[in-house]
Amino acid sequence: MALAIRDTHSRYGLVSRALHWAMALLFLWQFSGATARVLLEDTALESFLWGTHRTVGVMLMALILLRIVWALINASRRPPSVSVMAKLGHLALYGLMVAVPTIALIRQYGSGRALDVFGVNLMPGFEGERIDWMVDLGGLLHGELGWAMLALIVGHIVMAVMHRRLTNHDVLKRMA
Ligand code: HEM
Ligand code: HEM
Repeated sequence: MALAIRDTHSRYGLVSRALHWAMALLFLWQFSGATARVLLEDTALESFLWGTHRTVGVMLMALILLRIVWALINASRRPPSVSVMAKLGHLALYGLMVAVPTIALIRQYGSGRALDVFGVNLMPGFEGERIDWMVDLGGLLHGELGWAMLALIVGHIVMAVMHRRLTNHDVLKRMA
C-alpha cells in the first residue's frame, strides 16, 4: 500500500514521518554539539559541532511549529497511543521541543546581540543595557531543560525498542 501523505489509524503518513526523522537527525547533531561543548572544550571537533548550534536551533524551532500544526490537523486520524504513559511522554517531548529553543531565543533577544541565520537577520540587536530577566531565564533553564529533553529522548528510544521486542505492539512499523 502506498504511503499516504496524511496519517491513518494504522500508521503515520509521509509528512509526519519526514518531520519525525528529519528532526531526530537535527537533534542528534544538536546534542552532539552540546556534548562536545561540555566534554571537548577548545578542540576542533567542538568548533565544528557547536558552531552551528544557533542555526540548527532556529531550524528546529521552525520545524516544531509546523509539526504542531500538522499534528493538530491529523489529530483525529493518527495511530492511537499505546498507553496513557506514551501519550504523556509524547506531550512532554512536544512541550520541551517548544520550550527549549523559545527560552534560548528570549535570552538571545534580551542580550541585545544580533541574530543572523543563513544570512537572514532575525534579530537586529540593540544598543544599551541588556534585559536581565530574559538573559537570566535562559541561563537558568535553557541548558537544563535541554539535557532533561535528551534524557526523555533516550527513554523514548528505549521504549520504542522495548515495545517491538517485548510486546506485540510493534510501534516502530507505524513510524519507520
Ligand atoms: C531545540 C533546540 C535546542 C536544543 C536541544 C539546545 C540544547 C542545548 C543544551 C543541551 C545546552 C547546554 C550545553 C552545556 O551544558 O554547555 C545548550 C546551550 C546553549 N544554547 Fe541551545 N539548544 C537549542 C536551541 C538553541 C537556540 C535556538 C539558541 C540561540 C538562538 C541556543 C543557544 C545556546 C547557547 C548560547 C548555549 C550556551 C549557554 C547555556 O548553556 O545556556 N540554543 N543548548
Ligand atoms: C532513534 C531515534 C528514535 C526512534 C527509534 C523513535 C521511534 C518512534 C516511534 C516508533 C514512534 C511511534 C510511537 C507510537 O506510534 O506510539 C515515535 C513517535 C514520536 N517520536 Fe520518536 N523516535 C526517535 C527519535 C525521536 C526524537 C529525537 C524525538 C524528539 C524529541 C521524537 C519524538 C517523537 C514524538 C513527539 C512522537 C509522537 C508522534 C509525533 O508527533 O511525531 N522521537 N517515535
